[in-house]
Amino acid sequence: MQNDIFGGTSGEVTTPQARAEILRSELNRHAHAYYVLDNPSVPDAEYDRLFSELQQLEQAHPELKTADSPTNRVGGAPLPEFGQVQHAIPMLSLNNGFADEDVINFDRRVREGLDTTGEIEYAIDLKFDGLAINLRYVDGLFSQAATRGDGFTGEDVTENIRTIRGIPLRLHGDNPPKVLDVRGEVLMFKNDFEKLNQRQRDAGGKEFANPRNAAAGSLRQLDSKITAQRSLRFFAYGIGYLEGGKLPSSHRALLDWYRQMGIPVCEENAVVRGAAGLLDFYQAIQKKRDALAYEIDGVVYKVNDFASQDNLGFVSRAPRFAIAHKFPAQEALTTVLDIDVQVGRTGAITPVARLVPVFVGGVTVTNATLHNEEEIQRKDIRIGDTVSVRRAGDVIPEVVASVLEKRPADARQFIMPTACPICGSAIVKLEDEAIARCTGGWIKCSAQRKGGLFHFASRKAMNIDGVGEQLIDQLVDKQVVTTAADLYKLGLRALVELDRMAEKSAQNILAALEVSKHTSFARFIYALGIRHVGESTAKDLAAYFGKMDALLVATEEQLLNVPDVGPIVAKSILRFFSDPLNVELVEQLIASGVHWPEIEVQEKGEQVLAGKTLVLTGTLPSLSRDQATEVIEKAGGKVAGSVSKKTSYLVAGDDAGSKLVKAQELGITILTEAELLQLCSRS
Ligand code: IVH
Repeated sequence: MQNDIFGGTSGEVTTPQARAEILRSELNRHAHAYYVLDNPSVPDAEYDRLFSELQQLEQAHPELKTADSPTNRVGGAPLPEFGQVQHAIPMLSLNNGFADEDVINFDRRVREGLDTTGEIEYAIDLKFDGLAINLRYVDGLFSQAATRGDGFTGEDVTENIRTIRGIPLRLHGDNPPKVLDVRGEVLMFKNDFEKLNQRQRDAGGKEFANPRNAAAGSLRQLDSKITAQRSLRFFAYGIGYLEGGKLPSSHRALLDWYRQMGIPVCEENAVVRGAAGLLDFYQAIQKKRDALAYEIDGVVYKVNDFASQDNLGFVSRAPRFAIAHKFPAQEALTTVLDIDVQVGRTGAITPVARLVPVFVGGVTVTNATLHNEEEIQRKDIRIGDTVSVRRAGDVIPEVVASVLEKRPADARQFIMPTACPICGSAIVKLEDEAIARCTGGWIKCSAQRKGGLFHFASRKAMNIDGVGEQLIDQLVDKQVVTTAADLYKLGLRALVELDRMAEKSAQNILAALEVSKHTSFARFIYALGIRHVGESTAKDLAAYFGKMDALLVATEEQLLNVPDVGPIVAKSILRFFSDPLNVELVEQLIASGVHWPEIEVQEKGEQVLAGKTLVLTGTLPSLSRDQATEVIEKAGGKVAGSVSKKTSYLVAGDDAGSKLVKAQELGITILTEAELLQLCSRS
């Protein structure tokens, strides 16, 4: 009775075979939506349910198991070693360029090679920071995967690659080529990398230095069950051997073909004309780089037309038709000369490595943070070590790891000082905190004073243009300024007496100070630098209390009524205002003219979204994200970036993705824009 009726025939009757087929196709569809289209179609729990149903079905009926079943993705028996695979067509490397000039020269050589003066059409891909892999499909079925190796012979990583859910085990479409070698990169997304390292930390295992190493380490596991637990991704960007199929006419057409067959292709690509088009894309993607879900180390330019690629051919082991335009390195090796500590505005002590200057990520770096004492011990970083230093985007440069092989015999361990290097007060570390702190407070410790003033003047606080670190250093060191209130007492004479301060700049600073006096209650609260009171808590406090007088005398109970204020934050606020010096500071600031528009205190019942946290996703029909946020905040609600159990409502527009799925999974109420507006119209 089994095995003979196929899915979709008569109504209720389903055989195990038909059910298995339905499950396989559903699971493949969901994995494709999640990993390739980046648009999940079901909650994870639903995927897991279907998956285990299929697993059970296949266990009961082993004859139903097929080569392309998603249950093959869990990993198999460990291998004694990797086999060798000879590439049908060698996997070559790319020439690199760094400067614009290299790109202009590349374009010139291409035009000369093709004997044309016209503009060349180029396809641009990102240069993924992962491992190059060849995937072989035979009659549409995934059959083998190999690393690049030396370009001619690689390692057989078929079983590991099979666990990557974004890679189709069977190509979509009815007419697959007899043999197809897909070339692309295996990589790990940044968030998956963070999660993996967290798991490694929790388990006391080794952390990976970067997503590339994590991807390589995960792929080079002899035990594919381990690989199956690591979220790896794949992006296709090239083709090797092809038999029994028609080669598309261009790189762009190849990627389109791959997409149709269900092979993951990165969305960030372009077809442009001429060197100017290449350089424009390079500039644009560099700005976007940090926001990408994965790491890239440049872009790859390829002559789009395959016939022209053939005409250009290869020089030694790299194509003439392509070049990698690399970003300045974000990681570089240098030596730790010493480790000092820095004192932050809350007294937090941060160990900082003083380095032999090194050019990384486009700037010369001489200091890099080591975060805290535990981190130094965990990474085992010593004075004298050769270390890799990383600088990504605007993030503070950090020491990633020591190169143990290069450790000199006289390398010294860092010892946390017991007294603050600035004010001499004791340094203490509370048991439940990773961070050691100077106990001097801002009165004794000039470093804390400087940090506090810098925070006070910063963009999101009082936003005082021109009052930055260097000015504050001087003002504090020369004892012209002690508290934030002193900033507003500065006169032209005091300023022009400072080093490198022309009268014009001094006047600008005075004008900026004047402008900053018109502020908002929320900015003012934030500017005070109360521990645990960030921008968002400051907004909540301002909305709840409305007036400084009310906040100054707030009780713990009242504070706990403010959305997102818990016992720790409440205590910190109480402690701050119980210090007469802080109260005096507030009074002085107000007396010197700092003011803000009155806030109407929320009347209970009117603020329909009071205490509620909303998340926005997708494109709303009429409101921009900022406008929707304003509507929500006016009604007393808060907007958060991600969905969690604490989310009250999800406001979903078109093309809502994983947030919608997660909200559904958690049973969170979903609102349309219209429903949101209707709800808020009551407040
Ligand atoms: S094309 C014949 N495209 O870069 C040229 N390579 O230096 C074949 N890579 O081993 C390579 N992203 O690991 C190409 N979009 C991309 C790439 C890319 C990363 C890597 C790949 C290769 C190396 C070449």
